[in-house]
Amino acid sequence: MKKIVISTGGGDAPGLNAVIYAVVHSCYRKGWEVYGSRNGYGGFLDIEDMVRLFPRDVEGIYSTGGTILGSTNKGNPFSKPVKNLAGEIQVIDISDKILRNFNRMGFDCHIAIGGDGSLAIAHRFAEMGMPVIGVPKTIDNDLEKTNRTFGFDTAVSTATEALDKLHSTAKSHNRVMVVEVMGRDSGWIALYSGISGGADVILIPEIPFDIEEVCEKISDNELHDKLYSIVVAAEGAITIDGQKFNKGKGELGREEVILGGVGEWVAAEIRKRTEKDTRSLVLGHLQRGGSPTTFDRLLALRFGAAAVRFVEGKIFDHMVALNDSQMVAVPIAEAIKMRKKVDLSSDKVLTARDIGICFGDTDTRGQVE
Ligand code: F6P
Repeated sequence: MKKIVISTGGGDAPGLNAVIYAVVHSCYRKGWEVYGSRNGYGGFLDIEDMVRLFPRDVEGIYSTGGTILGSTNKGNPFSKPVKNLAGEIQVIDISDKILRNFNRMGFDCHIAIGGDGSLAIAHRFAEMGMPVIGVPKTIDNDLEKTNRTFGFDTAVSTATEALDKLHSTAKSHNRVMVVEVMGRDSGWIALYSGISGGADVILIPEIPFDIEEVCEKISDNELHDKLYSIVVAAEGAITIDGQKFNKGKGELGREEVILGGVGEWVAAEIRKRTEKDTRSLVLGHLQRGGSPTTFDRLLALRFGAAAVRFVEGKIFDHMVALNDSQMVAVPIAEAIKMRKKVDLSSDKVLTARDIGICFGDTDTRGQVE
């Protein structure tokens, strides 16, 4: 008999509930107890936020977005900012307290579902002696050592559907539409949705873009009688001069800046340089919402069930990963070492170039001879 605790950390992603469903059902069938820690590590700090989970508590949740446990991206227990009596911000480390409570509550393993930030935290707990298994989540798909993270497929579907809808309005007005999608450090969502949704230009962090080349592509479209254009820009895209776009730090406790602004900037530049009617929109958190696609559901259920098998095999400080359609265990340390970037020599990038999509660089592949 084992006692397992699950947590969901960082930005939510469609499929989180499917992982929880699979963990609860797999454990129940083994006669193990499962608890959920609310809002990341909340349950280790306040007993009311540690909830026992039975199959009836997770009925049907595999098809729902969000997380029944809640999540936070302000919850790093190793550097938690708090206000002292004088009203000043102090950064404190509460990891010892969490580990103590984990042991006191008699848990055998912590299944941490998260992206690179949450898994880095989980790994530090593993180094302190907490048996941990990671499950890779992020719509950005930028975690190393797994072919896919769950949430990505749903985000790409949402972005592609949005692009499909933009074509008719862009065409009706002979406009340029610039769509900003998520993708902090890598351009997976922009690339997949851009190719599938008929974009003319895709801007990704992996290929710094020259706005002149972007405008050149739009003018070239006109020359070939295509009077409207669609530009997809990942929020983390950067110019060849190294310009990045963000909206500052955001809430207390948040470690990363809030990205945003590249779409608006690109649209303004296109308007100025080509005199074309240009509009921009930000898809934002729409990409994180809604029901997981069948692909994400299945992947998340498989990750959850595999995580429980890893508990049984005592494969701790490892992350469940998808590798050539198999569930494998990889050391968390390997997965968080660096972000998974788009491979610029991959077939997807070649396909995009071959069908005439511009990345804002000087590569002439795919240009009409
Ligand atoms: O990591 C996923 C992600 O969706 C990023 O693409 C984006 O920059 C970030 O989360 C936004 O997070 P928040 O929920 O804090 O706005």
